[in-house]
Amino acid sequence: MIGGATARVPAKINLHLGVGPLRDDGFHELSTLFCALSLYDDVTVRPSDALTLTITGENRRAVPADATNLAARAVAALAARTGDDPNVAITIDKHIPVAGGMAGGSADAAGALLAAARLWRADLPRTELLDIAADLGSDVPFSLTGGAALGTGRGEKLLPVLHRGEFHWVLAVSGTGLSTPAVYRELDRLREAGDLPDDAGTARPDALMVAIASGDVRTVAPLLHNDLQPAALSLQPMLRRTLRAGREAGALAGIVSGSGPTCAFLCADSDAAVSVAAELSGSGVAKAVRTASGPVAGARLIPQP
Ligand code: C5P
Repeated sequence: MIGGATARVPAKINLHLGVGPLRDDGFHELSTLFCALSLYDDVTVRPSDALTLTITGENRRAVPADATNLAARAVAALAARTGDDPNVAITIDKHIPVAGGMAGGSADAAGALLAAARLWRADLPRTELLDIAADLGSDVPFSLTGGAALGTGRGEKLLPVLHRGEFHWVLAVSGTGLSTPAVYRELDRLREAGDLPDDAGTARPDALMVAIASGDVRTVAPLLHNDLQPAALSLQPMLRRTLRAGREAGALAGIVSGSGPTCAFLCADSDAAVSVAAELSGSGVAKAVRTASGPVAGARLIPQP
């Protein structure tokens, strides 16, 4: 056995998030276009006498540091499959916003899977790792694959999407997180109460896929869409102000990221992103403001810190 292994895993946003009906298993059928962004958690796994979890980094506070953490569950799931000893020391260097709609928990699970597989020299076929990932959470397979991908089913079935160049984003992180199940429930409630005219449902986002392949940010911007946005805005009405502030600061478009409450603003280029970020930071609408670009690669092994 080696002394340890570290995986670096990106955050994600959904350039398109179409939500279909509630299924019998409690999940909603999705049609989503995932994009991995250059904001990373590093997950290190080392041999130990007990399963332990240490969280470091700017977003360490809100993360559960016990066996309920998705990274710990990932290690247990892989150990059950390979027969290895699940007692490892996991360290997560946390930079992805917590409960922010950017798949931070899923990133940590994907990182733990990749790092533990390396530590144990488990030679699993990629498809098997993806199956374990899908059991852990709907977004975990995408955290492994990264890039840009069309997600269907509950989000776990992935098809890579052709993309050209990189897109520049500003992320406005809210001071209060949102629970993903609560946002889906709110969407169901809003749909029952009356029609939401902009619902995309499970239609495939063909126009957006063509735009991503062209690399033309001005074609992409008006096509960004999120069916969960009305639900997130209903639970956190101040997000309307955040979205307005980003557009007024010069972003081409702004959407709630996934189930929120992080707001993602697409900018014309990297200079524009820096200027929008500076203006948003000064406006006081967000707890933290970050710039990021994407699509970037999914989870990968890096030298240990
Ligand atoms: O798969 P994951 O654990 O990330 O999902 C968290 C919760 O989000 C689910 O329990 C469900 O309430 C909701 N969800 C959903 N439909 C999806 C994905 C998630 O309703 N496609």
